[in-house]
Amino acid sequence: MSIQQAYNSWAPQYDTNKNRTRDLEAVALRNTLASIDFDACLEIGCGTGKNTEWLVRKALHITAVDLSEEMLERARIKVGSNKVDFIQADITKRWSFATQPYDLVSFSLVLEHIANLDYTFKQTAAVLKRGGYAYVGELHPFKQYTGTKARFNTAQGTQEVECYTHHVSDFVRAAKQHGLRLLGLNELFDNNDRSSVPRILTILLQKV
Ligand SMILES: C[S@@+](CC[C@H](N)C(=O)[O-])C[C@H]1O[C@@H](n2cnc3c(N)ncnc32)[C@H](O)[C@@H]1O
Repeated sequence: MSIQQAYNSWAPQYDTNKNRTRDLEAVALRNTLASIDFDACLEIGCGTGKNTEWLVRKALHITAVDLSEEMLERARIKVGSNKVDFIQADITKRWSFATQPYDLVSFSLVLEHIANLDYTFKQTAAVLKRGGYAYVGELHPFKQYTGTKARFNTAQGTQEVECYTHHVSDFVRAAKQHGLRLLGLNELFDNNDRSSVPRILTILLQKV
């Protein structure tokens, strides 16, 4: 099953499944971006709009992009704002959906599905204003090392979604190569238990 088919199939249950990764990343994004101002936001892999509904309260305009029409349809209904353009697109292809210079580009739980970080950060740097921010919130690679993956249950059994492991240094190196300076890096743990394997990695970057 392709990544697009997998998310089209996951969409009806994505918001209601128990999913600690989804929920902790929502906390991470809000904590990281609370003190940052942005007018124009490009949200990559918006899914069902978990973060769009928070971002739209701070932004003047959001371009929200996703590969899956079924995920997008739920986001459109959930967010219901004319400040957001929801666009179906594959970010591994040309970024023709980026229609203006952005103050913020955000990635939540999407880069694990993207093989080529280099292309992604190159495009990110190209669409950001100077001084603009990029936020990355991902399933921590340490969790991936222990076998955690994006997966959901279907009538036919558990369906795993195609994933790639990017090490922490891969993110930082690819960002630096395209003029994105590391402003912050954070790790979030289940129940705040810092003796456990961290679940979420966040990286905040700024275009120099
Ligand atoms: C785990 S979901 C995360 C959704 C949302 N950001 C959240 O945190 O709940 C990953 C999303 O990335 C999208 N995605 C995966 N590969 C993509 C690609 N190549 N281009 C655009 N979106 C993609 C999927 O369709 C899915 O909605």
